[in-house]
Amino acid sequence: MSSVSTTHIAVLASLLFGAVACSKGQAAQTSPAATEQAAAAAESEPQAPSAADAKREAEEMFRSRCAVCHGEKGLGNGPGSTALNPKPRNYTDGAWQANVTDDQIKNVIMYGGAAAGKSPIMPASPDLQSKPEVVDELVKIVRGFRPH
Ligand code: HEC
Repeated sequence: MSSVSTTHIAVLASLLFGAVACSKGQAAQTSPAATEQAAAAAESEPQAPSAADAKREAEEMFRSRCAVCHGEKGLGNGPGSTALNPKPRNYTDGAWQANVTDDQIKNVIMYGGAAAGKSPIMPASPDLQSKPEVVDELVKIVRGFRPH
């Protein structure tokens, strides 16, 4: 009886601690499976890699899709901005930053200026409606230009 529960505890311990120390008896038999489980868990950890991907995608998108109007530094003075009226939003405008909500920024990014009662020259990015994590990262980029 007591040997059964000792084994039980050993198996539990090996699962809990990732079966790193697989030196003894029956516990050793379960350790490859436990190790595989731990490896699978590490591989499928969804948060870190996909968050990094979304950030990278947003940064590339900002450079390729937004900076032409809003400028690399967010000043609203990109090469495509000269003939525009109104001008693209200057993200370094502290008053604007203080008054706009993240949801408003998200909406204008996905649905464009016209849908938000703004200039229709601010284009929609319908492809981003299925990529909320990239939109969130774009909002962070826009917020990052806020003056300190
Ligand atoms: C063709 C030029 C152009 C491009 C490209 C462009 N924008 Fe704009 N954007 C504008 C203009 C013009 C406005 C100002 C609209 C207004 O004030 O009526 C604006 C406004 C905005 C605003 C402010 C909205 C508000 O509520 O005041 C945000 C945020 C914004 N753009 C984000 C982006 C992002 C992010 C991208 C890239 C995905 C982008 N824009 C691409 C021209 C552009």
